[in-house]
Amino acid sequence: MLHVFESDHPLVQYHLTQLRDKNTSPVEFRALIRRLSSLLAFEATRDLAVRDRSIQTPLTSMVGSELAAKIALVPILRAGLGMVDPILDLIPAAEVWHLGLYRDEATAQPVRYYNKLPQTNPVDVAMVLDPMLATGGSATAAIESLTEWGVRSIKLISVIASQEGVDAVVTRFPETQIFVGAIDPELNAVKYIVPGLGDAGDRTFNTLRYLE
Ligand code: PRP
Ligand code: URA
Repeated sequence: MLHVFESDHPLVQYHLTQLRDKNTSPVEFRALIRRLSSLLAFEATRDLAVRDRSIQTPLTSMVGSELAAKIALVPILRAGLGMVDPILDLIPAAEVWHLGLYRDEATAQPVRYYNKLPQTNPVDVAMVLDPMLATGGSATAAIESLTEWGVRSIKLISVIASQEGVDAVVTRFPETQIFVGAIDPELNAVKYIVPGLGDAGDRTFNTLRYLE
């Protein structure tokens, strides 16, 4: 069974278009990433388990719901950091575990530089956050680390994916659920997503020094 969700929501497409625009400033870029993260998280959390919780309203007692699963947000540094706060607002009790990965510019292969995941006691659900899924190398490395930790349910949330990146993750980890704002058709010679949005980390953190 395929677990790939590509949003066709008008708000996602509207904000995504602004995000892609090369004239969008870093301030607005970060705000758009926050909005898109919330919209995609809404879909990614649709199947979370809940359990009963008894409360008293000012008028009576009632049985409501609370989240039953232990959930972790796992941003991939750097660009994934911009997705944490809006999703933590939705799931305030989530744990946050950072993974440091960057793509070697010459080979486009992921390089691991930070991982403090514990060896035991995994969460029930891990949500990997990275705005860009290009070759899929970084996402696959992150999912490998989470699988080694023992996480059974892994959800990857990306703002833009390439078809190649989606295929790479699905082939290696067919049970991973993938939620994206758009799947773009191709990667260019240096493995950037086209049409894409350029370098998400640099646009988020205002470190873009060379525009083509
Ligand atoms: C970007 C992006 C992903 C990765 C995607 O990070 O945020 O982590 O590239 O590419 P892939 O699917 O081919 O692995 P980058 O390496 O630019 O690091 P940064 O977030 O620190 O800028
Ligand atoms: N990383 C990015 O930030 N953008 C791409 O298009 C590919 C990798």
